[in-house]
Amino acid sequence: MNSYTVNSASGVRGEIRVPGDKSISHRSIMFGSIASGVTRVTGFLRGEDALATLEAFRAMGVEVEDDGETLTIHGKGLRGLSEPTDLLDCGNSGTSMRLLTGLLAGQNFFSVLSGDKYLRARPMKRVVTPLALMGARILGRAGGEKAPLAIQGCQLKGIEYDSPISSAQVKSAILLAGLYAEGDTVVREPHLSRDHSERMLRHFGARVESFPGGVRLSGGAQLSGRDIAVPGDISSAAFFMVAALIVPGSELIIRGVGVNPTRTGVIDILKGMGGDLELLNPREESGEPVADLRVRSSKLKAMRICGELVPRAIDEFPAICVAAALAEGVTVIGDASELRVKETDRIAAMAANLRLAGVEVTETPDGMEITGQGSLKAAAFDSFGDHRIAMSMTVAALTAPGQSSVSDVDCIATSFPGFRELLAGVVVS
Ligand code: S3P
Repeated sequence: MNSYTVNSASGVRGEIRVPGDKSISHRSIMFGSIASGVTRVTGFLRGEDALATLEAFRAMGVEVEDDGETLTIHGKGLRGLSEPTDLLDCGNSGTSMRLLTGLLAGQNFFSVLSGDKYLRARPMKRVVTPLALMGARILGRAGGEKAPLAIQGCQLKGIEYDSPISSAQVKSAILLAGLYAEGDTVVREPHLSRDHSERMLRHFGARVESFPGGVRLSGGAQLSGRDIAVPGDISSAAFFMVAALIVPGSELIIRGVGVNPTRTGVIDILKGMGGDLELLNPREESGEPVADLRVRSSKLKAMRICGELVPRAIDEFPAICVAAALAEGVTVIGDASELRVKETDRIAAMAANLRLAGVEVTETPDGMEITGQGSLKAAAFDSFGDHRIAMSMTVAALTAPGQSSVSDVDCIATSFPGFRELLAGVVVS
């Protein structure tokens, strides 16, 4: 388990690009593999999570060439995958496991999904339950709640499902199964979660209708291979946005960031807290909105964060907590119990780390209250094996006079290989 030290900074300045969007990278492999013809993907995230998805499809007979810049996926068509000879290892990746569960439920073969100790502890019934309603045959530990999951593919039927949670992984698993089902599949959710699956399915030629509160897909659609340019991941950019906002004397440009409205909650929140954040050169690439971001140091104020903002910023809460720790007043986060079942319990992990930095934090079942401080204290922070906790506390440490450390930082490679080097390139010491 590697750790590193972080010194306080006197500015974050320059121009960067962040690696490709993780959600879109996963989906490019999945949809490209079950499309007919060739899909070329540029900007693919070479992080461990997306690479786990790539290896799973290779294990099901999909040929993927990689020249270091472009992935060329030779799609097998909807029914062309072959039975894997061993279990499919999803590593730390909830997206790989939950979306694959939906896709594998409709195949004509048997498969088993597993992952690391963190992933094996995460809830899976949220996908197993609706898939079972479609006729899927899935067994797992703890009555189907935990991986490994064993899936005997079979003929599925479309359902109308009212999801109790706003989760793109749940929605996407059902839509992937719906591609193989008889009839239409409808998913409704309390608030709209990220819609990359819907957008990419349309890009590949499927009939997908979004309506207020939900989405409808017709079974049996044939997908055609397409080119995909993966934009920079707003979830990775978020660490740099917060760094530039909280370290005085900063001005940072982040080029080519995906700004899909179902993902821009973090921009709305940071602007609501008084952050000087500007979107430049808005454009569209492969059906996804993209822009450059300019961020300047700002005096932040506390905010109440709940409701529809929560799914639109779900992965950015660790970084938002760091901004809240330096904002004037008490930031209240609610409706966010999903944070307790991420790669780690992110409410408990951020509360523990921020307290080490001298911040007053109260945990609630579905969120937390953070009393902002004028400055943070240097400390030995713990990643809890979670990439986003590790990167958030690295950013927090930039404002703490002296030297801090962050433990167990190898997990950063799941979503953001090169994070530390990219940060070192813009930090003014
Ligand atoms: C993701 C959906 C979100 C997010 C995860 C990626 C996706 O999870 O936290 O990092 O790619 O669909 P939930 O669906 O559990 O909210």
